Amino acid sequence: MTLETPGINSGSAPATAKVRIWDLPTRLFHWALVALVIAMVWTGSTGKLELHMTLGQAVLTLVLFRLVWGFTGNRYARFSAFVTGPVTCLRYLGSLFSSSGSTHVGHNPAGGYAVLAMLLLLAVQAGSGLFTSDDIFTDGPLFSKVSSETGALLSTVHRRTIWLLLGVIGLHLLANLFYLVVKKNDLISPMVTGCKTAPTAADAGRGGHPLLALVILAVCAVIVFGGIAFVK
Ligand code: HEM
Ligand code: HEM
Repeated sequence: MTLETPGINSGSAPATAKVRIWDLPTRLFHWALVALVIAMVWTGSTGKLELHMTLGQAVLTLVLFRLVWGFTGNRYARFSAFVTGPVTCLRYLGSLFSSSGSTHVGHNPAGGYAVLAMLLLLAVQAGSGLFTSDDIFTDGPLFSKVSSETGALLSTVHRRTIWLLLGVIGLHLLANLFYLVVKKNDLISPMVTGCKTAPTAADAGRGGHPLLALVILAVCAVIVFGGIAFVK
């Protein structure tokens, strides 16, 4: 953690500093996911399906990793830090345009729901892909394991969920832009550097070690790639 001129505030306001919020694994997860989702849409819509299916299993691996990291990552990566009740979220949304609205160090309550929605839609998109067929040359690796009706249904799910997913990602980007331009609150740089100006007590501590993340990622990859190869 790099401390910068803490204690500039007087009175009851807490001292602020550059504190580490997002651990390295969470940031790497995020930017790898962004690259993979772009690659998935490109390979899916241009028919590069062999590459599409391999990268798709990497997406599943990342989603599984993030679920586990939600219990093992640092303070702000944990679900307990950003999954709130609907009332808290509605109250937060109600105060969004007031300058006195509360600021959150990690994901705010609405952002927390967006994170859950993206992970869920990614799991449905990638999960249904396993059972999808283009009805010509290419079948998902587990397509032959289900009846033709179920395969047709999951192929439709795969072709429709992408629009929902792209919609939520669009909202995610608009929300980041809204915070940057209207609220003058740059959420993007911290997702790159890990650091944010926040009360010194907000530091995420030492949790979320990259070595632990590497072990979890390796286990997730074995489960996804190994599991699919085994069942296929
Ligand atoms: C987040 C992950 C994924 C995204 C964003 C994604 C996206 C897409 C898109 C945009 C298409 C083109 C749909 C169309 O032509 O209307 C497609 C087709 C397809 N995807 Fe995925 N996909 C993902 C994961 C997977 C996975 C994990 C597999 C299998 C291992 C898979 C297998 C297929 C197959 C076989 C097709 C051809 C179906 C067709 O042409 O209708 N996808 N995907
Ligand atoms: C395919 C596109 C994208 C997907 C699927 C995606 C997904 C996600 C997910 C799952 C998280 C939660 C991170 C975690 O806790 O693990 C997140 C957070 C975040 N993303 Fe993205 N993202 C995408 C594109 C982008 C882009 C292009 C930017 C920047 C311009 C961005 C900026 C952020 C920021 C700043 C956060 C943290 C927000 C906060 O402070 O609460 N994302 N994103």
